[in-house]
Amino acid sequence: MQTKIFYFTGTGNSLAVARNIADELGDTELISISKVINENIIMDTPKVGLVFPVYMWGIPNMVVDFVNTIDITEDQYVFAVTTCAGQPGETLIQLQKMLQKKGTDLQAGFAVREAPNTIQEDNIFIKIAMLIERNSKIARSGKERLSEIVNVIKNKKEHKPETSSPLLNHFGNLIYGMAINRINTMGKFWADEKCNLCLNCQRICPSNNIEIVNDKPHWSQNCEFCQACVQWCPKEAIHIKNEDLNRRYHNPEIKVKDIMVR
Ligand SMILES: Cc1cc2nc3c(=O)[nH]c(=O)nc-3n(C[C@H](O)[C@H](O)[C@H](O)COP(=O)(O)O)c2cc1C
Repeated sequence: MQTKIFYFTGTGNSLAVARNIADELGDTELISISKVINENIIMDTPKVGLVFPVYMWGIPNMVVDFVNTIDITEDQYVFAVTTCAGQPGETLIQLQKMLQKKGTDLQAGFAVREAPNTIQEDNIFIKIAMLIERNSKIARSGKERLSEIVNVIKNKKEHKPETSSPLLNHFGNLIYGMAINRINTMGKFWADEKCNLCLNCQRICPSNNIEIVNDKPHWSQNCEFCQACVQWCPKEAIHIKNEDLNRRYHNPEIKVKDIMVR
């Protein structure tokens, strides 16, 4: 095996990108971070990849925890792809610094723009940022950039971690610093009477944060805010308090069974 790609996903964009890269690379194992987070992870391939979404202009908590626990040696080639709604900020620089602290490095880092989960699409900051960045590389999707990304990885080339523009990076770092530690209690989720207890939400939740209480899903305080529960609910029965979701989103290439953790 030449490559292992570890991915984290809520609505499937990162899995779709990881899968497309794996298919093109060949000889690649795809591993869900949520499935292996508490296990002893063996990093025994010459190439190691990380694919995950941008959350609040930075790395999702579970991915931070994962990176903190893994052992990668200096001679392994490490690459990352982060999927976002258009504003990665310095997510990949953050990752690079974490890896450098562990005595290794991020040799190549790409930020790709995928369809936003519904709650970001009306976000005024994302709209302004996208206007500023409309001609940059980070405005293009993983599919559009697939051959470029695969070419870099195949040939173990260096590719400077991609970021937003300096001003937006500065703003993004401030937001990340303020928001990421509060994210686990940020979403107040609830299920309406359409809930038929199919238990999909429980089975796809990456942090095992949902239990059934009095025949209704109940959310604890360990949420990644990935929105998988809301976006994949087949009955559209799950809501976020104070959010008026007029549609649900998940990546069209991914099926709910692909992201089941348990
Ligand atoms: C909690 C949360 C925070 C997000 N923050 C950002 C952000 O700061 N910048 C951005 O461009 N996209 C942001 N997004 C959008 C996601 O990064 C994007 O939709 C990503 O492709 C989702 O990946 P997934 O489908 O693999 O979960 C955020 C999404 C969520 C759920």
